[in-house]
Amino acid sequence: MSPEDIGFLLVGFTAVVVAATVIVMLVKSELAVAAGEVGKSSGGRLVLAVALGMGVIAFSFKLTVFTLMSALPKQTIDRVMVERHFAQIVPASWSTMPPIPLKEEPYQWQALPYTAPAPPDNPTTPEKIALGKRLFFDPNLSLTRDVACASCHDVTGGTGIDSRRTSMGIRGQIGGRNAPTVWNAAFQAVLFWDGRAASLEDQAKGPPLNPIEMGMPSGEAVAQRVRDNPAYEPLFEDAFGMGTSITFDRVAQAIAAYERTLITPDAPYDRFVRGDRTALTPAQLRGMALFQTTGCVSCHSGANFSGASFVNLKDGDPPAAVAIDNGFLRMFPGNDTPYAQKYNLTADIGAGGPNADRGVWRIPSLRNVALTPPYLHNGAVDSLEEVVRIMATSQLGATIDGNSQHGRVVFWSPEQQRVSKVDRPVLNDRDIKDLVAFLNSLSSDGLAQQVAARQRK
Ligand code: HEC
Ligand code: HEC
Repeated sequence: MSPEDIGFLLVGFTAVVVAATVIVMLVKSELAVAAGEVGKSSGGRLVLAVALGMGVIAFSFKLTVFTLMSALPKQTIDRVMVERHFAQIVPASWSTMPPIPLKEEPYQWQALPYTAPAPPDNPTTPEKIALGKRLFFDPNLSLTRDVACASCHDVTGGTGIDSRRTSMGIRGQIGGRNAPTVWNAAFQAVLFWDGRAASLEDQAKGPPLNPIEMGMPSGEAVAQRVRDNPAYEPLFEDAFGMGTSITFDRVAQAIAAYERTLITPDAPYDRFVRGDRTALTPAQLRGMALFQTTGCVSCHSGANFSGASFVNLKDGDPPAAVAIDNGFLRMFPGNDTPYAQKYNLTADIGAGGPNADRGVWRIPSLRNVALTPPYLHNGAVDSLEEVVRIMATSQLGATIDGNSQHGRVVFWSPEQQRVSKVDRPVLNDRDIKDLVAFLNSLSSDGLAQQVAARQRK
């Protein structure tokens, strides 16, 4: 309790005592009058005195209750006290940042489809999948013959990552970015942290030629490595038809077909959306609501919780190869917070222009996110709770308890000479934990079991 609160309490208490004394005195003298001069009417004065005293007591009582209320732990009353976060004129550099619209319209939640869409020129077939799987695990696709796709994307009982902050390629070279999981990459309409690949086929041609990752000099050199192994010829003929030659393009097509089988439509969240109302815990449900109302869905949307992803129009149908696209690139960090410096979040600017002071990044999928630390493009953050705090403050401008952001921000646009007011979400520690609980519901049951079984070994 602050000295101010104690002051208020003292005033309240004194008022109660004074009021009580006044009443007692008035009633006493009234009784004396009544006893001495029976017959002379004095009932009016008695009622007046009692009413006056009661009023003073009621007022003092209210004052005391309000004082006690303001002394409660902050989060208990934060909800009704949003207005306490007074407007703040943001620095001029922020005024160009468009306010993030909070989704008011009903948001439609989607389960992950049971199959991934394939482009018309590369239909997924069992033969192609078998070939692609073999290529995915083949270290001969790297210069030093010791790094395969699977070296950095562990999918045999693993969560499709390498668990490093940033990846290690040939000759122990360390890259600059964290390896995203390949699980459900098939639902992403753009790939890589900066969204530079437009399809899995396109993406699969990147790592073999990346000097740090697999270091091959050319696509033709990769194709030649595959031709060198006679076991591949029949597999290619099965997959692409008799007499087809082995090319870098077909290597990439087969790998992409295999990756389209790496999907996890078995998360508690999916079971919930498909009708199992017991699939989510109360905390996860609260988190789900917060994920929508605070505006996480304005970026992480659709079945894959990303920027641009493929959807199935009706559950059970194969997903349509149309991407829902809410603009897949976003400025990150959007607002200035201490996290940017703490985790070195602006050194790499992703898809940002040459003079950008911060990065522009693809909105990543949040599927299996609880199973795939460390986080963010540079893998700098280990805890999911910390990432949620970073997102809430830097992407939504939210206030988290005493954290320095402001619940209500006033934007001044010097060009338009306009002022606009935006309400930012106000969250407390429990809200953050609920959001994390919800993110946990996006973890595949199957993957989580495999990971647990591995840890027991
Ligand atoms: C040396 C480790 C390493 C190897 C080997 C590697 N990757 Fe990756 N992979 C990464 C990293 C790091 C990224 C992110 C790079 C970026 O965004 O700039 C990535 C990104 C991806 C993505 C994009 C996922 C997404 O959500 O956007 C896919 C898909 C992928 N890799 C598949 C493959 C395939 C297929 C191979 C083999 C041909 C392969 N990787 C080889 C480390 C590796
Ligand atoms: C304005 C767009 C935007 C909003 C709003 C947003 N995010 Fe993000 N989110 C991103 C971007 C962009 C990244 C990638 C950051 C990077 O490149 O390191 C990201 C990354 C993440 C990651 C890390 C993923 C990984 O694999 O490393 C999590 C978890 C996450 N967001 C959760 C949330 C939650 C929870 C909310 C709501 C509180 C939220 N995001 C709101 C754009 C957004």
